[in-house]
Amino acid sequence: MRRRGALIAAIAVAGSLALAGCGGDTDTSSKSQAKAESKSDAKPELKISGGFVPEPAMADMAAGFLTVTNAGAGADQLTSVTSDIGEVTMHSTKDQSMKPVKSFDVPANGALKLERGGNHLMLQKLKHKPKLGEKVSVELHFAKSGTVKAELDVKAANHNPKTQ
Ligand code: CU
Repeated sequence: MRRRGALIAAIAVAGSLALAGCGGDTDTSSKSQAKAESKSDAKPELKISGGFVPEPAMADMAAGFLTVTNAGAGADQLTSVTSDIGEVTMHSTKDQSMKPVKSFDVPANGALKLERGGNHLMLQKLKHKPKLGEKVSVELHFAKSGTVKAELDVKAANHNPKTQ
């Protein structure tokens, strides 16, 4: 359980950064915001698809995956995610260890893919354990597009759309 303690500590840090980061003056967000502003007349057109949560082994923690497709000529950013089921944070995976990030870029005419082994949502302090066949509702908060709701289907623990 050492890893879990580290994760919780990391999330506590991420939480305070997220609050302090409203002005977006960190490296990544200021850079991509500048990029987005340079073509501020171009609007993102976002669509969420393929959202799922693998049925978790633990009662209070799960991962979430989805794809945000952007058909617009303007980039956007996923800046936070909320859900009634618990706390949601954004994680990247590098060298098989995950770390909290403050935002994910949604490129213009491109897609943000949250998938196994890569970027993902971390659902914690769950009020109940998601069961196969249920749906988990999340609200995705974007810098430009505002809040977009998504339903994540609870799938089998080993579900991976890439291999199916
Ligand atoms: Cu994670």
